[in-house]
Amino acid sequence: MQAGASYSATAEPDWVRKARAEIPASTTAANFQTGGIGPSPVSVLDEVARNLHRENRGPADTRFRLERVEPDLRTRLARTFRADPSEVALTHSTTEGICIAAWSVDWRRGDEVVISNQEHPANVFPWYQIRDRFGVRIREINLDTGTDLLKEVQAALRPSTRMVSISHVSRNNGRRIVTAESAKLAALLRPRGIRYLLDGAQGPGCVPVNFGELGADYYAACGHKWLLGPKGTGALFVRKAMLDQTLISWAGSHSTESMDYASNFKLLPSAARFEFGTRALAEFSGFDAALRWMERVGWQRIHSRIDELAEFAIGRARGTGRLTLVSPENTAERSGVFVVRLPRGADVMKLYQRLGTEKRILGSPVRRDGDFRLAIHFFNTRSEITAAIQAIDEGPRSG
Ligand SMILES: Cc1ncc(COP(=O)(O)O)c(C=O)c1O
Repeated sequence: MQAGASYSATAEPDWVRKARAEIPASTTAANFQTGGIGPSPVSVLDEVARNLHRENRGPADTRFRLERVEPDLRTRLARTFRADPSEVALTHSTTEGICIAAWSVDWRRGDEVVISNQEHPANVFPWYQIRDRFGVRIREINLDTGTDLLKEVQAALRPSTRMVSISHVSRNNGRRIVTAESAKLAALLRPRGIRYLLDGAQGPGCVPVNFGELGADYYAACGHKWLLGPKGTGALFVRKAMLDQTLISWAGSHSTESMDYASNFKLLPSAARFEFGTRALAEFSGFDAALRWMERVGWQRIHSRIDELAEFAIGRARGTGRLTLVSPENTAERSGVFVVRLPRGADVMKLYQRLGTEKRILGSPVRRDGDFRLAIHFFNTRSEITAAIQAIDEGPRSG
């Protein structure tokens, strides 16, 4: 099969075909890897390129200063994901946001943190470090499809629990934490003084995100997956009431409103205090351009279409009779992260390679051996999904 030759978009609505045509890497393959690295629209790439040139002439030459990039991006992120601009810190990845929150506690020996069995290493490995340095215990709850979030967390809580850190949308089974459930969880944790962190790497751009309603203290996200932004962009949302309780582990110029060399300083009054060091302004401008692009396409249309395509994929997978659905089927909990389990003994790495090289279908193996993921974004098509599920179904047989 020739790269990009066979996956027709002609049956898709005009707005999808038009948007797709603006994303070069969405048409050179059946691109189901948004859950890893999202392909950017040309306008985003152009914005980064333009500002890389400007950045390299400013700020020495003040005509090329990029001073509006960060405040504008914080404002747009806040508006889009329902936070106050003072609750947004710009980061370079989800992991950076997770680490800012994870290392913000004055951990003591015997403290506990709750994570789940559906996390990315980004929400596991920092906890290993904290465990090994401070003697913190990690408890893992079961967030397989069909388990009860609140019961799972309740059963894991101890008087020494200080934080719960789970994915808003799991990269491993696609389960989305329902906003109302998340709010209940927040209401359970807050009076106990337990902090609540959501790993939102797979959230924004894939499912609607309302930071205020989710109730989390921290929400760590990135621009480089479902938001189709430049690589190395992210944001950490910090609930206003938590600003002063969130200890700073990394600080530098950019964290303070003022400082002198006689040990005086005043931290920024907002979450921008968690930012430090030289900023990736060109990439951040591209992040803002990606949000503007998504806005123009239409958040509502994007989310509805992802859900329709997920439902279509579920139907196709069921039709094979051989693939088991790992992701939730119900609308409230499903997302564009669509995961199936191959028949026992199937070699998922071989399948991954065969799909990529022979069929130009880009998917991903995930945490559990034998599970395979298609990250289905709005620009994907029914014909790509049909081809992918057929190839996954055939894959193990042809070995
Ligand atoms: C759920 C989840 N969390 C965190 C990450 C890491 O993201 P980043 O590269 O933005 O740090 C990923 C990346 O795939 C992810 O899927």
